[in-house]
Amino acid sequence: MPAIAIIGAQWGDEGKGKATDLLGSRVDYVVKFNGGNNAGHTVVIGDEKYALHLLPSGILTPGCTPVIGNGAVVDLGVLFHEIDGLEARGVDTSLLRVSANAHVIADYNRSMDKVTERFLGKRKIGTTGRGIGPTYADKMNRIGIRVQDLFDEGILTQKVEGALELKNQVLTKIYNRRAVTVEEIVEDLLSYTERLRPMVCDTGLLLNEALDRDETVLLEAGQATLLDVDHGTYPFVTSSSATSGGACTGSGIPPTRLDRVIGILKAYTTRVGEGPFPTELDGSPERDPRGMGELLRKQGAEFGTTTGRPRRCGWVDTVIARYATRVNGLTDLVLTKLDVLTGLEQVPICVAYDVDGTRHDEMPVNQTDFHHAVPVYEEMPGWFEDISHCRSFDELPANAQAYVERVEELSGCRISVIGVGPGRDATIVRHDLV
Ligand code: GDP
Ligand code: IMO
Ligand code: MG
Repeated sequence: MPAIAIIGAQWGDEGKGKATDLLGSRVDYVVKFNGGNNAGHTVVIGDEKYALHLLPSGILTPGCTPVIGNGAVVDLGVLFHEIDGLEARGVDTSLLRVSANAHVIADYNRSMDKVTERFLGKRKIGTTGRGIGPTYADKMNRIGIRVQDLFDEGILTQKVEGALELKNQVLTKIYNRRAVTVEEIVEDLLSYTERLRPMVCDTGLLLNEALDRDETVLLEAGQATLLDVDHGTYPFVTSSSATSGGACTGSGIPPTRLDRVIGILKAYTTRVGEGPFPTELDGSPERDPRGMGELLRKQGAEFGTTTGRPRRCGWVDTVIARYATRVNGLTDLVLTKLDVLTGLEQVPICVAYDVDGTRHDEMPVNQTDFHHAVPVYEEMPGWFEDISHCRSFDELPANAQAYVERVEELSGCRISVIGVGPGRDATIVRHDLV
């Protein structure tokens, strides 16, 4: 013990990478338990900036063992590209371990992701196009390819044949694309086998034995609560379990061994891709007459790490924060990017929704209601002092302190750490996380 999970409390990009990196030197293992290279975590260490997609952020901490768990999906080309990029910058990646049960993203999964989005037209999800949804669909349909299949060419060929039987019909007859051959897929996957072999093991066993030895395991989520396939704004979600329950199924660490669940909450809200977003400031005369969305995007540098898309921006939403606290059983919150709110006369906090005249203090159960939710705001006075050098809560201006305390109260979870800049040290610790 202990096992600690880090979970996104909104729609992603809350600063999970920085939080993981912050704890890195005090943890022995960092596990990616869901998602694939749809994630984008930016970690800033001194003058160096790292953008990680598939590898857990713990890879940047010497001595920490990074693990890709069974719940993740692996694009092998991206894996080795990312490893090579880090090695070229002097990062030792030799400790990386990959679950034999993790599923592999095959080329046809990437094609399917793109053609399906095109086919959906106006109803598209706005996916990252990395093949994530189709790979998880194959897993659930029991026609997925797992890492361990790469070590038996006969089995691999059989499984690819099975997967392509229906897929080629769909690709050619519905989407008017060329059929994919079993040979090209098998050849591509087998080209990674020898490099992969030494990394592959039973990661569930590895992690539980580490906990038996009293070592510290950090479970790092990709995506976030509102993008979770069960608890998110379905169908505008990713296809994996990004909440604390997913941390267990995606790693093989049982719920009884989780000691702490840390939610990462940005001091405002962002979203990439399609889907409802009640507090969005979209530049329209009705919802955002003063162009605050653009201001947050600029001040917060809100452009996707993975696709470069501008992130949709809006005020903090404590209905969502409360929901994330409940769904994940959060024990602590890390409030990130408080510095981005500096210089505003007023900082609104969404405390509830108005849905066609009815007040909702909790997430509406009905999707249509959530689409119609109009935020009820409480206005907090802003601050103008530069807070990026503050290292204790007392150093923050009184109005910034009041903002943090009100978000904490409404979220129902203590705010243990506050981010005041992208760097490792630009952090205020109120309660230790490990
Ligand atoms: P993740 O996907 O949750 O890991 O988050 P991303 O890395 O995609 O996006 C968060 C961005 O905010 C990154 O560029 C971080 O360097 C940056 N960041 C994290 N914490 C802070 C903070 O407290 N203040 C500021 N200004 N930037 C931060
Ligand atoms: P991190 O880990 C923000 C969004 C996509 C799209 C939806 C489904 O950096 O927080 P997918 O390709 O997963 O099928 O796309 O989910 N999405 C993210 N948005 N941050 C992420 O990851 C995301 N990963 C997926 O934009 O709306
Ligand atoms: Mg991100």
